[in-house]
Amino acid sequence: MTMQRQCVKVEKRDGISWVYLNRPEKKNAMSPQLHLDMDAVLEELETDPDTKVVVIAGAGDNFCAGQDLKEFFRGLEDKPAEFKRISKVANRWRWDRLYMYDKPTICMVDGYCAGGAFMQLIATDFVVTSKEATFSLSEVNWGIIPGALVAKAVSQALGYRDALYYACLGDAFDGEEAKRIGLANICVPRADLVKETEKLAKKLMAKSPEVLRATKQAMRSVRTMDVQQAYDYLDVKNAAIRVSDPEHSYRTGLTQFLDKKTFKPVYEPFELGTGDGTRK
Ligand code: COA
Repeated sequence: MTMQRQCVKVEKRDGISWVYLNRPEKKNAMSPQLHLDMDAVLEELETDPDTKVVVIAGAGDNFCAGQDLKEFFRGLEDKPAEFKRISKVANRWRWDRLYMYDKPTICMVDGYCAGGAFMQLIATDFVVTSKEATFSLSEVNWGIIPGALVAKAVSQALGYRDALYYACLGDAFDGEEAKRIGLANICVPRADLVKETEKLAKKLMAKSPEVLRATKQAMRSVRTMDVQQAYDYLDVKNAAIRVSDPEHSYRTGLTQFLDKKTFKPVYEPFELGTGDGTRK
């Protein structure tokens, strides 16, 4: 099933929603309309029962050439109120929504990924890139700093030296380098990009959605907590899953490993839908 907005296209197949930034003639640079469309699409997919995993990619041969220098920067220069409104929407989908999104998210990168596109790149849970992709924190090359939340996102995702190097030099780098510095999880030749992305999405779909959601949220939340807060938060989060998880994963997992001996948690998740529903 395909959903089309002015600057975003969504294709839903077998639980995966493929969301394409769709301005291929501009290398998918992010215009104000694209931000409005992405914000609306992500809001909709978060509660869409047919969407188990969201993949964000670019239409054509490129992921995203960053903010649209003409429509977002120059075009809104003399319109401060509109600039503020669109900036809020842009930041909301690229960071706030994605950072704690209820469903697993993957960025699939081919071609260019520049500047402002690093926000959605880093906010998503996983990145699969082609070897041939070209990444660049290009801001320094045209007169601004990595704004909105780009500098913070990059500082969080990369080691200190790599973050400073790429932000200050603006040097372009390929998919293999993106993997080496921790920006991407998986790097494959362009021909295998979709297949590898699909493989990762299917692995994610085999897990209990409730436990997966709690896990990713916990991993992100504890980053800014001290040790005592983290102990406390994680205890409560674990208790919450036992109440809210329709798969009753904890009890099912224990029963199937300890009593039925039907699976090994080190190698695989228990099979979804096999929970006995017993809650003690
Ligand atoms: N904003 C606005 N327009 C952009 C754009 C951007 N970020 N990136 C590409 N485009 C447009 C070009 O202006 C061109 O438009 P035109 O056909 O009307 O002239 C079209 O997309 C194709 O780009 P072009 O530059 O001709 O392609 P290329 O293959 O020679 O170069 C890039 C591709 C990505 C290297 C180059 O376009 C570039 O450096 N873009 C700027 C990327 C950037 O710095 N983004 C960070 C913003 S925060």
